[in-house]
Amino acid sequence: MSGTKEITILDIVNKYQGKKGALIPILQDVQKTYGYISNASIEEIAKHTEYAESDIFGVTTFYAQFKDEKPGKHNIKMCQGTACHVIGADNILNVIFEELNMKDYGNTPDGKFTIEEVACLGCCSLAPVVMIDGEVFGKLTPDKIRKILKAY
Ligand code: FES
Repeated sequence: MSGTKEITILDIVNKYQGKKGALIPILQDVQKTYGYISNASIEEIAKHTEYAESDIFGVTTFYAQFKDEKPGKHNIKMCQGTACHVIGADNILNVIFEELNMKDYGNTPDGKFTIEEVACLGCCSLAPVVMIDGEVFGKLTPDKIRKILKAY
């Protein structure tokens, strides 16, 4: 068996050939494949479909689900649900921002982390909670989160 072939934009577009209203599913597939939707991907989609680049841009900026930036290597989800919020999620978030030299949610300049805000990760008894690459870290203190981040 040969190795896995990289999926191209053309492969994705071809999958939806002749289907009406295919733009959103195409964009969802592109994001699933590449993690985000780059300008180059938008140009490619426009080249192979009847959609104009400006229309595709319009759709990607309208729907929050579409990301226009390559995600960081590690994903940090900061819970800002009620339980986490009242027990000091903001303190933890400030430590994360401080440690990673960030002022707001988004990607660190070195591309190592993406910090996102989420509402309730479903483990409120462990508040305040952060999820990193799918792993839950609970009952966080500033010291604890500093140590956890160092391990990445
Ligand atoms: S509010 Fe944070 S896990 Fe529920």
